[in-house]
Formats: sequence, structure tokens, C-alpha cells
Amino acid sequence: MKSITIGITGASGSIYAQRLLVFLNKSADVSRVDLVISQAGIRVVGEELGLKVAGTDSRVVRELIGQDSDKVFLHQASDIGATIASGSYLSDAMIIIPCSMGSLGAISSGITRDLIHRAADVMIKENRLLILVPRETPFNVIHLENMLKLARLGVRIIPAMPSFYHHPKTIDDLIDHFIHRLLDHLGVSHEQETRWEGSKKKEGITK
Ligand SMILES: Cc1cc2nc3c(=O)[nH]c(=O)nc-3n(C[C@H](O)[C@H](O)[C@H](O)COP(=O)(O)O)c2cc1C
Repeated sequence: MKSITIGITGASGSIYAQRLLVFLNKSADVSRVDLVISQAGIRVVGEELGLKVAGTDSRVVRELIGQDSDKVFLHQASDIGATIASGSYLSDAMIIIPCSMGSLGAISSGITRDLIHRAADVMIKENRLLILVPRETPFNVIHLENMLKLARLGVRIIPAMPSFYHHPKTIDDLIDHFIHRLLDHLGVSHEQETRWEGSKKKEGITK
């Protein structure tokens, strides 16, 4: 059973975070999810998903995943005394999804002005799994250098680049395919129907 930390920052793509939370909340492999949303993240979630996620109570979690949860715990981004700010708290993995260029820069420089940056800094110092899902286009040299620096430290940089080999029909198909890839990195089991199994036509298999 895994304990996973999720940071939502103010980059576009909050629907990915929402979908990941829904999966983790349902997963039998996950016992706890610590959730932090940055100030800018609150704004972007409002813009993109039309949700009101400001506040400190369980309504925030309900708004995001569509139901109450005894697994997902919300922390305030300003609460630098929260459990996940300490290396003595055992979180198996942290994902920042989506990750803004601002948070990417702060983490790559060791600047910990909010709980998301501090929790990420802890994951790096404790040599634990940290995944960033950066979102910006185009990337400038500062963004690329920050990603390279973190990748060299073992941070997994996994941008949400859609793939099409599984013939997605809907936006949901695209999002789910990416979330399944993330779950693979987290070691959380799932029933993905869109794994690449080689070119069936080429191998003479007709279906
Ligand atoms: C609607 C909206 C979309 C944004 N999209 C992005 C984005 O895709 N990537 C990015 O780096 N910043 C984006 N920003 C800007 C960030 O929110 C801003 O840089 C913020 O300071 C990031 O702070 P945080 O990392 O603490 O969340 C967006 C802002 C808004 C309002």
C-alpha cells in the first residue's frame, strides 16, 4: 500500500491531476494521498474545470474527485509545517501535475517558498521518487536547463504529451492513456487496454 503526495500548480492541464486523483482514490494499492494545490493552481483549476477548490475543508476534495474520500488529505500550500514537509514522514512518491515553469524553477534552485516546493525538495534529499509533469510551450533554455538539472538528480520528467498509436477517440482516451503511463511509474496497478503490443497487422494477426 502506497502513500503518494500530489502537488497541483498553476500550469494548464488540471484535468490530468483530477483524473489521477480519481484513479488513486479508487486504487487498492494506495492507502493515502496527500494533496496540495498552489495559489495559482487554485485559480487554474477554477478556470479549466470550473471548480471552486479554495478552502481548507473536505469540500475541496469532493469538488475535485466528485465524492468524499477518507484517503485524500488536503494541505494548504502555505502550511510549511505539514507532515509532507519533513523527511521523517514516509511518502513513497510525489507527483507535481501539472508543473508550472515557476515551480520547476523553484525546485531546481532549491527555493522552498511553499509546501509543494518544500515537499519536492524533501523527496530529492531523501532520494525518493519525484515525478514532474511540466506544461509549457515552447520551452525556453531556462526551462530546459531546469529540467535537465533535475533529471540528472533522478527526478522523472514526464510531460503530458499525447500519443496516438492507441487510436484515441476522445479527450478522455488521451488523458487516461497518459495517466496509465504515470501509474506504471508509480507502481500502481491498473487495467490499461491500450498497451502497445507490436504492430498486429505486420505480424499477420487480424482482429
Ligand atoms: C489559465 C492559466 C494558465 C496557465 N498556464 C501555464 C502553463 O501552462 N505553464 C506555466 O508554466 N504557467 C502557466 N500559468 C502561469 C502560472 O500560473 C504562474 O507562473 C504561477 O506563478 C505559477 O505558480 P505556482 O507554480 O506556484 O503554481 C498559467 C496561468 C493561468 C492563469
